[in-house]
Amino acid sequence: MTLVTGKELLAAAQKGNYAVGAFNCNNMEIVQAIIAAAEAENSPVIIQASQGAIKYAGLDYIVALVTTAAKNTRIPVCLHLDHGTDFQQVVRCIAKGFSSVMFDGSKLPLEENIAITKRIVEIASAVGVSTEAEIGKIAGTEDEVSVHEKEAMLTDPDEVKYFVENTGVDSLAVAIGTAHGQYKFEPKLDFDRLAKIRELVDIPIVMHGSSGVPDADVRKAISLGVRKVNIDTNIREAFVKGFKGAMEKNPQEIDPRKLLGPAREAMIEIVREKIRVFGSNGKA
Ligand code: G3H
Ligand code: 13P
Ligand code: ZN
Repeated sequence: MTLVTGKELLAAAQKGNYAVGAFNCNNMEIVQAIIAAAEAENSPVIIQASQGAIKYAGLDYIVALVTTAAKNTRIPVCLHLDHGTDFQQVVRCIAKGFSSVMFDGSKLPLEENIAITKRIVEIASAVGVSTEAEIGKIAGTEDEVSVHEKEAMLTDPDEVKYFVENTGVDSLAVAIGTAHGQYKFEPKLDFDRLAKIRELVDIPIVMHGSSGVPDADVRKAISLGVRKVNIDTNIREAFVKGFKGAMEKNPQEIDPRKLLGPAREAMIEIVREKIRVFGSNGKA
């Protein structure tokens, strides 16, 4: 198949009350693992690349890897830019064939975030590419923030409707208490805030920092309108565990395939588990 847009996948998820997993990729083995897991679960899937991934692998490589994967599978695949913070980078991704892009203006003043998001929505929608934006600030687990600061970073429901109406964005990432990376303590999600946001807008909601969020909380967030769930850290952990396990079994191994193969297998397992939690299994 050719790539499909995030808008299309999330609209189906909205109807079916499930979420689509958005899994971060950085290299070929990760892309292959995500696709193999989605095929095994018969699930639509979003493969996303961060600016860091693009810097590491190269934009052309990311596009080639994911479009090749999509061409060789019957599973609907979306290629999405994760946390694009640079206008030109977002436009380059659109030009190179991404089917969905995120502009992350969460660090900007609201009006500036709206202005740039709006320009990106205009460009992307003109060529059939879907969009995601962010309001509120999703922290990293390593960030030292006080309880008071944490609260201030969460998405203000009063801004949500204004933001969506003034940008025309297709999906919205919100800060409801999750953070990127490995949690030191179990995250406490603000479900009341999520429910309030949901009442105000009916576009698909995106949850970032979802690795390490207990399955029951992920399911509850999905029941409250989350339609895209981002997972990166859990994939990194599985990769390294699989790789290290193979290395420990045979410390003399010098064939990268004998190390990367088990890493890929470990990633397939975690992605399959997540797909089942999100309820997108059987929805391809
Ligand atoms: O949200 C961040 C993703 O986990 C990507 O991380 O910027 O290190 O590639 P990265
Ligand atoms: P985790 O690394 O916590 O899974 O978050 C991923 C993410 O939000 C990517 O945008
Ligand atoms: Zn994120």
